[in-house]
Amino acid sequence: MIPTAVVSARGEQRIRGGHPWIFASDVDDVAAEGGVVVEVLGPRQRFLGRALYSEQSQITLRMLTRDDEDVDEGFWRRRIQAAIDYRTSLNIKATAYRLVHAEADLLPSLIVDRYGDVLVVQALSQAMDRQLPALVPMLVEQVGATGVLARNDPRVRLLEGLEQRVEVLFGNVPDLITVHESDVEYEVDPRHGQKTDLFLDQRENREAAALYARGRMLDCFSYHGGFALRLAGHCDTAEAIDISADAVSRIGANAVRNKLTNLQAREANVFDELRRLEQAGEHYDTVVLDPPAFAKNKASVPKALAGYKDINLRALRLLNPGGYLLTCSCSYNVDEATFAETIYEASIDSRVSVTVVEKRMQGRDHPVLLGVPETYYLKCFIVRRVA
Ligand SMILES: C[S@@+](CC[C@H](N)C(=O)[O-])C[C@H]1O[C@@H](n2cnc3c(N)ncnc32)[C@H](O)[C@@H]1O
Repeated sequence: MIPTAVVSARGEQRIRGGHPWIFASDVDDVAAEGGVVVEVLGPRQRFLGRALYSEQSQITLRMLTRDDEDVDEGFWRRRIQAAIDYRTSLNIKATAYRLVHAEADLLPSLIVDRYGDVLVVQALSQAMDRQLPALVPMLVEQVGATGVLARNDPRVRLLEGLEQRVEVLFGNVPDLITVHESDVEYEVDPRHGQKTDLFLDQRENREAAALYARGRMLDCFSYHGGFALRLAGHCDTAEAIDISADAVSRIGANAVRNKLTNLQAREANVFDELRRLEQAGEHYDTVVLDPPAFAKNKASVPKALAGYKDINLRALRLLNPGGYLLTCSCSYNVDEATFAETIYEASIDSRVSVTVVEKRMQGRDHPVLLGVPETYYLKCFIVRRVA
C-alpha cells in the first residue's frame, strides 16, 4: 500500500502557492506510519506531490516535490548535489559556510554546515531524521568530508517527538576545528557552540562591514567575536561585549590567534552597558548590534520592538557624526519593514539623522525561498550618522 496523506482544499491551495509546509489542520486523512515519505492527494484524490510526514508535529507535511517523481536515492543525490553546486558557484572566501539550507534548498528540515572537512548536520523533522543515515554517505562522498557530526540538539526536535542528541555519524570530528573567513581565523567547537558554532549567516555582513569600519569600534552581542575579529584590523580599537562568559573567553583566544592586540572583550548586558557608556560620554565611530532573536513568537513582537528600539536609540547616540551602525534582527516575526520603522523611530528619539548605506540580509549560502517568509529571517541595515 502506498503511504498517502489527503489534504483539505486550503492545503491544496497552499501547495499550489509553493509553500512546503502543510499544517495538521489542513491534513484530512493519513494512511502512513510517522516519518515516511507520503504521496500527497487533494480533496478529490488528485495527486499533488510527495512530502515528508511527521505524525506529531503541527507541521504535518513538508513538500519534497510537486512532480510525480520517485523519492529514491537518485532524488536525494540530485538535491544535495544542486545545493553543493550552488555554494561552489558563490566562490566563497571561507572554509566555513552553509551547504544545505533546508526548505530553501528543497531539502526541508535538513541543515548542513561545512567547517573545513567536517560537516555538521541537523535533521529537524521526524522523516528527515529517518533519512539521515542514507544521506550522510552521499554528503561524505560528494564533499569529501572526513567527519560528520549530528548537532541534533535543537529544541524544535521535541515538537517532532525526536530526542535531542549530539553524535558523530562518520569519521573523525575533532573537539576544535580551525576555519577561516577572509584573512581571519576562528576556532570552532562544533559540539558545544550556539547553532553549529559560528553564525555563518552573518559572514557576508561581516565582509560588508569591513568596508566601513574605522576608528573606535564597539561590537555588541559579539558571541565569539565574529564581527569584532573581522573589523579590528580596520579600526584603532575594538571592544566586544557579550553576556556569556564563555563567549567572551573565546574572543580573547581568537584575538591572540589572529595577533590582534587592539581588541578587548568584556562580559556585560548590552542593555545596561549602552546606558553606562552613554552616561560616561563615550563615543564610537563604528557600532555593531547583532542581538539574539528578541521575538521568538508573534506574542513577543511588541516587547521585542521596544528592545530593538532601545538598543538602536542608544547606539545611535554613541556614534560620532560620520560613524556607522550595522544593526540586525534575526527575528523572523519582525519583518524588514517593521525593523526599518523601528530604526527610524530610534533615530527620531535620539535626534540623530541617519542615511541608509546598505540594506542587507542573511548570506547567499542561506537562501530565501520566495513565497516562504519563514526562510527570510535575518535583516541587516548599515546606517551612517550624518549629524
Ligand atoms: C546572534 S548572536 C551574535 C553573533 C555574533 N555577532 C557573530 O557574528 O558571531 C547573539 C549573542 O548575544 C548574546 N546575548 C544575548 N543577550 C544578551 C545581552 N542582554 N547582553 C549581551 N549579550 C547578549 C548571546 O550570548 C549571543 O552570543
